[in-house]
Amino acid sequence: MSETKKLFIKTYGCQMNVYDSERMSGLLESSGYETTDSPEQADMILLNTCHIREKAAEKVYSELGRLKSLKAERPDLMLGVTGCVAQAEGEEIMRRQPAVDLVVGPQAYHRLPQMAEKVRAGARAIDTDFPEEDKFDHLPRGPRARRAPTAFLTVQEGCDKFCAFCVVPYTRGAEVSRPPERILAEAQDLVERGVVEITLLGQNVNAYNGGDWSLARLIRQLAAIDGLERIRFTTSHPNDMTDDLIAAHGEEPKLMPYLHLPVQSGSDRVLKAMNRKHTAASYIDILRRMREARPDIALSGDFIVGFPGETDEDFEATLALCDEVGYAQAFSFKYSPRPGTPAAAVEQQVPEEAKAERLTALQQLLGEQQSAFNQATVGKRLPLLLERRGKHAGQLVGRSPYMQSVHLEAPDRLLGRIVEVEILSAGPNSLAGRVVTGSHSSGQHEAVRPDQESLSA
Ligand code: SAH
Ligand code: SF4
Ligand code: F3S
Repeated sequence: MSETKKLFIKTYGCQMNVYDSERMSGLLESSGYETTDSPEQADMILLNTCHIREKAAEKVYSELGRLKSLKAERPDLMLGVTGCVAQAEGEEIMRRQPAVDLVVGPQAYHRLPQMAEKVRAGARAIDTDFPEEDKFDHLPRGPRARRAPTAFLTVQEGCDKFCAFCVVPYTRGAEVSRPPERILAEAQDLVERGVVEITLLGQNVNAYNGGDWSLARLIRQLAAIDGLERIRFTTSHPNDMTDDLIAAHGEEPKLMPYLHLPVQSGSDRVLKAMNRKHTAASYIDILRRMREARPDIALSGDFIVGFPGETDEDFEATLALCDEVGYAQAFSFKYSPRPGTPAAAVEQQVPEEAKAERLTALQQLLGEQQSAFNQATVGKRLPLLLERRGKHAGQLVGRSPYMQSVHLEAPDRLLGRIVEVEILSAGPNSLAGRVVTGSHSSGQHEAVRPDQESLSA
């Protein structure tokens, strides 16, 4: 390669897109690109996109509109769309935005270097295949540079669940699990480069199926890697929450006491219409068993309000479920009709005002629960992984086992270390603390949740 070209990637959507963006930079680095954080300097700009809700997809088109003028100034600039909008819209992107040179879906991005060649030769390139070959076999590892203390690692991709509202089974394709030996090797490599916490990713990560390997077995094997201190995983489906995975939370100290388990609704009628194949009661029972296995576990969830046909009564059932669970954190969204999904075709859509009202009420409740959870950690000592510098000089930001961000004064040399911290105060979104010792620590802590007796029975 004659000279280094510059690559800028903007990432939207979920953690898997963050991971994919890293893989794409690694891949393009080996064909002569160097990543930059300034789009103005880039020779190639990729938007790694998300199609989950209407707003997410619209953002991409407005960003492309802005980038068009950059390209007008510099016709050599290569403009590409990757990720889930690329998969869902394909040719339509090329039609709507003539400035776009290449479109590549989430399962075909190992072909990016060849596509870039084609664009340089004057053509436009599109690839939204679900190829037979495994893209991970084609992706070189990133440079063996030292890296941030936390990393994502995709172990499973795609979804066979077909919830009636969701585009993911169409954009990511069928469930595929990576072979355990590849995952273990990648984890080892990450640890050698300074990573102490790995988050295992999958659209249905707990459906991981690597032959004889379940997610629980994979976690136990990863825990044997020296230097890897913390393991997390996301996102799980209630129906794949197996006994061995639940048990692992009580037995494997490196597995963090935090579970993100989306439920979407507390109404069985709505859950059925959503094709979720679980009930509110079966979901609550899983959480009860999780708390038995790991009493201090912090719980998180996803909710959709205003799914077609949702009544006030259905929505009340969602609030009641939240009251019963007591979340440490949660994400809630207004239902967004997605082209090609069964729910979008239903006539009885919920009016926008009702959606907005329900979202406000739900977020109010979830916000109170999050504050209560955070407040309950004040005065406790927690092991914190110091992940990055804070806004102010001398400040670092760390993460508690329960995924809380904690700000504290600490020297830079502690970055990437786990230290014991006393929590001094708590706000809704972050905490403040003070280092107790520089010593390493991990292991189980007593329950921090406020009065959640209903579930621990
Ligand atoms: N595989 C994961 C991630 C799905 S997307 C899972 O099953 O949880 C993340 C969240 O986006 C979902 O849990 C759901 O709450 C929300 N979501 C998905 N489709 C949506 C839609 N059409 N409208 C609003 N929210 C949606
Ligand atoms: Fe979408 Fe449902 Fe699959 Fe999650 S489980 S990705 S919500 S279809
Ligand atoms: Fe979005 Fe695709 Fe992830 S639709 S949430 S980027 S799987």
